[in-house]
Amino acid sequence: MAIGSTRLEGKIALVTGTTGGIGVEIARRLAQEGASVVVTDIAGAPVAEFAEGLGGTGTHSHSALDVALESDWECVVAEVADRYGRLDVVVNNGAIGSLETVVDETREKYDQVIAVGQTGTWLGMKHAGALIERSGGGSVVNMCSILGTVGGLGNSVAYAAAKGAVRTMTKNAALHWAQRGVRVNSIHPGFIGTAQLKERHEGSERHRAMLANTPMGRLGQPEEVAAAVAFLAGDDSRFITGTEIYVDGGWTCA
Ligand SMILES: NC(=O)c1ccc[n+]([C@@H]2O[C@H](COP(=O)([O-])OP(=O)(O)OC[C@H]3O[C@@H](n4cnc5c(N)ncnc54)[C@H](O)[C@@H]3O)[C@@H](O)[C@H]2O)c1
Repeated sequence: MAIGSTRLEGKIALVTGTTGGIGVEIARRLAQEGASVVVTDIAGAPVAEFAEGLGGTGTHSHSALDVALESDWECVVAEVADRYGRLDVVVNNGAIGSLETVVDETREKYDQVIAVGQTGTWLGMKHAGALIERSGGGSVVNMCSILGTVGGLGNSVAYAAAKGAVRTMTKNAALHWAQRGVRVNSIHPGFIGTAQLKERHEGSERHRAMLANTPMGRLGQPEEVAAAVAFLAGDDSRFITGTEIYVDGGWTCA
């Protein structure tokens, strides 16, 4: 599907974590395909500016939203209901990571990673998913990872725990909503060359391991993840629920 298609015209989509490398591209792609996008992030100020420059034909808006706080979800979902009267798509993208191993991870960091990546995704489904159901149906897209499915490089234990839960919660919620019009799917990126990832890892042993373990021999691009989100967001995927799409250059088939 060429960018610039209008397959999301008329849809209202909420995306979390839209100051990060992948969230920015998801919001842009949904806007380019005609959606009105509610861009949200724990960092409120940058999303205000971002929403203004999004383009497309939709009416965009922005809100500060810490996905780990239920009160934030309640507020933002009420704002969306007031402003647009409906919600068609939520992309639970915001998350934090930690590189520590099973023995080196601290209790504090473990709890933070779970609170944002796992509990935040559940709260997004609970509150935004419920508004989608009240709107007559739509799509929930949960950002997972290859680390929700396989062991990766043998570190990032808290992140793997959070993403493993996202993977199974996705299927659980898909069954709950299967006959109520709400589809729920997960996207599993491999290593994506966001500015932040390049800044942290380019040239390191970890970076070499990412490339060596990716059959296609390169990092993915945020736009390639966004394209998969747009497919799951729209009606082209109307008979797809509870499944997982890997955007990983072949990592998980090796
Ligand atoms: N970059 C990769 O290689 C990769 C690979 C697999 C999966 N992912 C997943 O893709 C998603 C986006 O990753 P990214 O690379 O853009 O990461 P990133 O760190 O650049 O962006 C994460 C975003 O989440 C936001 N965020 C952090 N805590 C939050 C909170 N409590 N509430 C709301 N927002 C919060 C950040 O402000 C940021 O905008 C994440 O779910 C990540 O786990 C990324």
